[in-house]
Amino acid sequence: MSRHIPVLLNEAVAALQIHDNGVYVDGTFGAGGYTTCLLNQNTSVRVYALDRDETAIEAGQSFVKKYAPRLKLIHGCFGRMAELVPQAVDGIVLDIGVSSMQIDMPERGFSFQKDGPLDMRMEQTGLTAAQVVNTFKENELADIIFQYGEEKKSRLIAKRIVERRREKPFETTLELAQVIHECMPHKPGEIDSATRTFQALRIYVNDELGELERALTAAKSLLKPNGILAVVSFHSLEDRIVKRFFQEQSGQTPNANKHLPPMTKEKPSFELLTKKPVIPTAAEMTANPRARSAKLRAARRLA
Ligand SMILES: C[S@@+](CC[C@H](N)C(=O)[O-])C[C@H]1O[C@@H](n2cnc3c(N)ncnc32)[C@H](O)[C@@H]1O
Repeated sequence: MSRHIPVLLNEAVAALQIHDNGVYVDGTFGAGGYTTCLLNQNTSVRVYALDRDETAIEAGQSFVKKYAPRLKLIHGCFGRMAELVPQAVDGIVLDIGVSSMQIDMPERGFSFQKDGPLDMRMEQTGLTAAQVVNTFKENELADIIFQYGEEKKSRLIAKRIVERRREKPFETTLELAQVIHECMPHKPGEIDSATRTFQALRIYVNDELGELERALTAAKSLLKPNGILAVVSFHSLEDRIVKRFFQEQSGQTPNANKHLPPMTKEKPSFELLTKKPVIPTAAEMTANPRARSAKLRAARRLA
């Protein structure tokens, strides 16, 4: 199994402007790349690291020992960080999405390249991807695939899924991938045609966009004045949520209708630190293709 290579690591940690005795939250512990970098900045730094995936928390116990007592590893969702982290903090970093370990383990059901149960749950709770494709109505499936996968052929894929499941319910990732490949044969030079549908199901099964929205609000209440929130996202749906939140909270929302008088603006609660998102260098994108779509945005909590 390949080790997860952290994306935009130096940029995200630099964005937090780490200082002596600072307390930070890594909301997406994963393989511990960000957490290690934070803890290594300075021996007085403390970190609360969260992950909703129990396997990441188990694998991280060696880090807890190594950095004792400076690292607390918490099993839970970053959308609930305000309840899970017991004190106000100086910085919060989120590196959202799935880790290479999750994708590489066929039994987790995230990969359309390896056969495994059609699961896709980061936590072992809630509906599996198989339950979604086997029980949802055709129009509901089409909406999920369109909305979260931005897949133009969502209606056709949903129709074929429903036809196929009448013969035999879906159990594995490759069964689903095959149906998508039959609808949209692979064209050389293009991404695998199953990519967007798998992304859509993963986002739906894990309520990833809802989690991100809850995390942004939670971060606002957890940060100390001058504390910094840095978010690395991997697709436009996520980046749009982060961008809008930062615009609204920093008082930069353009007036929706120029014919109406300006809306009364609330006092800004964040100051934007990245006018444009930070993206990986060409060297990082070559070394780690997963980095290609990454975007980092950061903002400082105002008093
Ligand atoms: C891209 S990886 C993070 C990698 C990490 N920065 C590193 O350097 O190793 C994303 C991790 O976040 C976790 N995750 C995703 N959504 C989450 C959520 N809502 N709450 C907590 N953890 C989440 C995943 O389980 C995964 O382990």
